[in-house]
Amino acid sequence: MGRLLQMICSLNVLLILVGVSLSGAILDANYYHKTCPQAEDIVYTAVRNATIYDPKVPARILRMFFHDCFIRGCDASVLLDSTPGNKAEKDGPPNVSLAAFYVIDDAKTKLEQSCPKTVSCADIIAIAARDVVVLSGGPSWSVLKGRKDGRISRANETINLPAPSSNTSQLIQSFSQRGLSAKDLVTLSGGHTLGFSHCSSFEARLRNFSSAHDTDPTLDPKFATDLKGKCPKPNTDRNAGQFLDSTASVFDNDYYKRIVGGRGVFVSDQSLLGDYRTRWIVEAFARDQGLFFREFAGAMVRLGNVGVVESGEVRVNCRVVN
Ligand code: HEM
Ligand SMILES: *[C@@H]1O[C@H](CO)[C@@H](O)[C@H](O)[C@H]1NC(C)=O
Ligand SMILES: *[C@@H]1O[C@H](CO)[C@@H](O)[C@H](O)[C@H]1NC(C)=O
Ligand SMILES: *[C@@H]1O[C@H](CO)[C@@H](O)[C@H](O)[C@H]1NC(C)=O
Ligand SMILES: *[C@@H]1O[C@H](CO)[C@@H](O)[C@H](O)[C@H]1NC(C)=O
Ligand SMILES: *[C@@H]1O[C@H](CO)[C@@H](O)[C@H](O)[C@H]1NC(C)=O
Repeated sequence: MGRLLQMICSLNVLLILVGVSLSGAILDANYYHKTCPQAEDIVYTAVRNATIYDPKVPARILRMFFHDCFIRGCDASVLLDSTPGNKAEKDGPPNVSLAAFYVIDDAKTKLEQSCPKTVSCADIIAIAARDVVVLSGGPSWSVLKGRKDGRISRANETINLPAPSSNTSQLIQSFSQRGLSAKDLVTLSGGHTLGFSHCSSFEARLRNFSSAHDTDPTLDPKFATDLKGKCPKPNTDRNAGQFLDSTASVFDNDYYKRIVGGRGVFVSDQSLLGDYRTRWIVEAFARDQGLFFREFAGAMVRLGNVGVVESGEVRVNCRVVN
């Protein structure tokens, strides 16, 4: 009996070890420890400097990381420029808020000077995404590294990003296809504590919403009036829009408080309150910022494991394949 129990236990340990190595154990917090110990300092310096000149940089970079990892995995496909024969991801339809590529270029140039051909562009995005959260007052975590860079970037694949009009069922499906849970969905949506949205991403909620409702009924009426004022019809200002959070350059739990109050900007944000599978998580994060911070750190590590490429190259210039 004792022996049987022992066998079952060691079998379990074995399975756990196998499971871990299958689910992305190629990444390592100390990956550049010997080859480029100053890698994270170099990235941080570039990100901090850029943020001083342009306070939009943190939101840009956080969004870039999400976009990169959701298309072809975290392989820096988002950084590749279009070529005569190929329209790249960054020129695909929902690219309005993709920017600040120069910050990654700046870090890469310095890294190539200090430790040539060593630090992948995919790892630079992952490190920079952690740094912008910290610089905005959010939690910190240890970034796993060792990603390789992909060689393919296709504009038509951005169709696989979840849309701001998606409901929670669609979002849960999109996240689960990438090994992320419903809780990860709610947690990572908290990235909308930073940044801005153009009218095009939410104005369908404001007028002629459905046959039954002219305005999306899940919107707080006063907030709906505000949004209509910011996005008039016709709208001549291409840059018009709304901050995603009242404290759009501070990483906090205000995003969840706003959702509880009917002031989520996208259908995708607000629907998290309307679905029993996610509502309790939204409410918990709205009450407890510390809980949100701890969960966010863990969820960003999981996002960074999505579709990691083990065999690939370390690009010398993040915009072109070697
Ligand atoms: C759950 C599915 C998601 C959807 C449908 C979504 C959709 C969007 C849309 C439509 C915009 C505004 C684009 C514009 O009009 O300018 C946006 C902005 C943004 N998103 Fe998301 N997003 C999602 C998840 C995430 C995640 C997981 C993160 C990061 C952890 C993130 C971070 C951001 C940030 C920081 C911005 C602001 C960008 C800026 O101000 O430059 N989003 N998102
Ligand atoms: C800091 O950022 C500014 C603005 O982007 C840039 O012109 C400058 O070269 C950067 N300096 C360093 C040391 O990276
Ligand atoms: C977005 O795509 C358009 C059309 O392909 C392109 O002209 C524009 O430069 C892209 N924007 C960014 C930030 O890459
Ligand atoms: C994108 O286009 C390529 C060919 O250029 C095609 O093989 C691929 O299936 C398309 N992907 C999507 C998601 O439409
Ligand atoms: C979510 O959207 C899909 C596609 O529009 C729809 O079929 C489904 O019924 C919606 N689910 C819920 C719970 O509203
Ligand atoms: C409102 O939507 C309906 C159905 O999509 C459409 O037939 C109608 O023209 C729209 N009205 C306006 C004022 O855009």
